Amino acid sequence: MQHEKVEKNIGLMGLLIVIVISFGGLAEIVPLFFLEDTTQPLKGMKPHDALALEGRDVYIREGCNNCHSQMIRPFRSETERYGHYSVAGEHVWEHPFLWGSKRTGPDLARVGGRYSDDWHRVHLLNPRDVVPESNMPAFTWLEHATINGELTGKKMAALRMVGVPYTDEDIQGAQAKVEGKTELDAVVHYLQSLGLILKDKR
Ligand code: HEC
Repeated sequence: MQHEKVEKNIGLMGLLIVIVISFGGLAEIVPLFFLEDTTQPLKGMKPHDALALEGRDVYIREGCNNCHSQMIRPFRSETERYGHYSVAGEHVWEHPFLWGSKRTGPDLARVGGRYSDDWHRVHLLNPRDVVPESNMPAFTWLEHATINGELTGKKMAALRMVGVPYTDEDIQGAQAKVEGKTELDAVVHYLQSLGLILKDKR
């Protein structure tokens, strides 16, 4: 009798299917909320400084993440090219995440220290000057735009509310740290900070 009710009522059947499937999902996902590996920052990790934080915002505004992922998968083909695979602890302070999966260009999760600052500056202003076959767009305007530091401290305070451990000094000193810097300075500084924490491990 009961069974017949379910078979003849597609709404009820749909609801029951969702409940059954969500048990499977919950059993996989919920434990991740409690594992240290997935919720705690790596030892020695520091949040982005003021200039890197502004650089990250420019990176998002310019849509760099539409062509570049920041997530190295745990496969040999990836670790040989990019370095240690990405781990959750590296990303616990990121809001929003920039992992992505679209790779028109290479993954940037560990690009920090791979090139000199000068290389990045030339590359961003005209990628073809250093990589002749590149089809990455040039971002010439970054050199002429100065960072407006008025909101930098506020951004940090907002991030602190969601768990990023900025100190009062970080927040108060933020505006002075970005004073007079261009958007190009900020993006290069941000790129140079990426992935250093696991850089030398393979
Ligand atoms: C339309 C797609 C596209 C966009 C948007 C884009 N890139 Fe690229 N990027 C590429 C491609 C393709 C390459 C590989 C060729 C080269 O090195 O120029 C690349 C290479 C790079 C490299 C060198 C990586 C390495 O390991 O050699 C960096 C750094 C980089 N991009 C940063 C940026 C930043 C920062 C932005 C945003 C301001 C950006 N890209 C926007 C396509 C893109």
